[in-house]
Amino acid sequence: MKPTHRPTLFSGAQPTGQLTLGNYLGAMRTWVRMQESHDCLFCVVDLHALTVRQDPRQLQENIFELTALYLACGIDPAKSTIFLQSHVSAHAELAWLLATFTQMGELERMTQFKDKAQQHKHNINAGLFTYPILMAADILLYRTQQVPVGEDQKQHLELARDIAIRFNGLYGPLFQVPEPLISTDGVARVKDLQNPTKKMSKSAEADLAKVMLLDTPEMVLKKFKKAVTDTLGVIRYDEGAQPGVSNLLNIWCAATGHSRAEALEQFSHHQYGRLKVETAEAVNALLEPIRNRFHALNADREGLRAVLEEGAERARHRANAVLGQILDALGLPTMRQRFSGL
Ligand code: TYM
Repeated sequence: MKPTHRPTLFSGAQPTGQLTLGNYLGAMRTWVRMQESHDCLFCVVDLHALTVRQDPRQLQENIFELTALYLACGIDPAKSTIFLQSHVSAHAELAWLLATFTQMGELERMTQFKDKAQQHKHNINAGLFTYPILMAADILLYRTQQVPVGEDQKQHLELARDIAIRFNGLYGPLFQVPEPLISTDGVARVKDLQNPTKKMSKSAEADLAKVMLLDTPEMVLKKFKKAVTDTLGVIRYDEGAQPGVSNLLNIWCAATGHSRAEALEQFSHHQYGRLKVETAEAVNALLEPIRNRFHALNADREGLRAVLEEGAERARHRANAVLGQILDALGLPTMRQRFSGL
């Protein structure tokens, strides 16, 4: 176990299919770095995935694959707690309690809910609506200080902060108010390669729109070659007028570690084709070690189960301790059997 003086960090991803380059650059890469300085918990948020109808067998497969991807990206179970949300029942329990501190109007304002309701018109279930409350519970249960996420989760994070502040105002400082950790180097919102005004999303229908972490090098090259740019014919950084070109520049910078100024120096006298191919090459160099590690990790289901079970054990212990204090504060007598000695 890590020394407890390190700041606590929590983050998660949904097991709804493979991860995209956006997930990796916007979130996961930061997770890996933060393991050295923070007390980290990384969750596979399977309960959140249920807000969209899932095939049970496929969901189970996705859960193991996502766990293997966490490991392949460099999340180390010896340093961080890796676990499955449904293994720690305190998440769902706290979500219920927090729902009574959340206003309908606050949830109605969530842009992700509006987008998803639009995409899944025949299944606008209550879980989709209360999704951000479960996310707040995930974070607040561990008295999390920092939450590394992409920009699309910022609004949810603000709600989690508001709920914590509201609760603390009524019952005392029981929750830590979490801070979002959002990268400022242009990859907090990696764009869709076919429609560069939208974020790159796992759920995009067009394959060419999204680069997946396990795409072959040939697929990555093809997707970047076909990336939508514009007809201006100059390489400049201008998100408004040239969103496609700007997205490619951001990805190239993130993959190579170069600054935007260096990118412009490198490409401004060249044509789009060169930027596309070099970005694909940089992304392939970044993804190659992940792909190489993934297959063996994913094949070892017993190993993945062991990682998740050990992580759940650790997370459960911490989560129950906080949940016990919250129940107490609300005036609900806790069962000593469950909460004693924590
Ligand atoms: P999810 O599974 O949609 O995405 C996982 C992480 O990837 C980030 N991300 C992106 N970053 C940059 N560019 C993109 N195009 C891009 N697409 C996705 C997301 O912002 C996210 O950080 N609700 C969360 C999961 C969650 C969670 C939590 C996160 C549940 N509980 C508690 C943090 C803390 C989600 O659906 O992420």
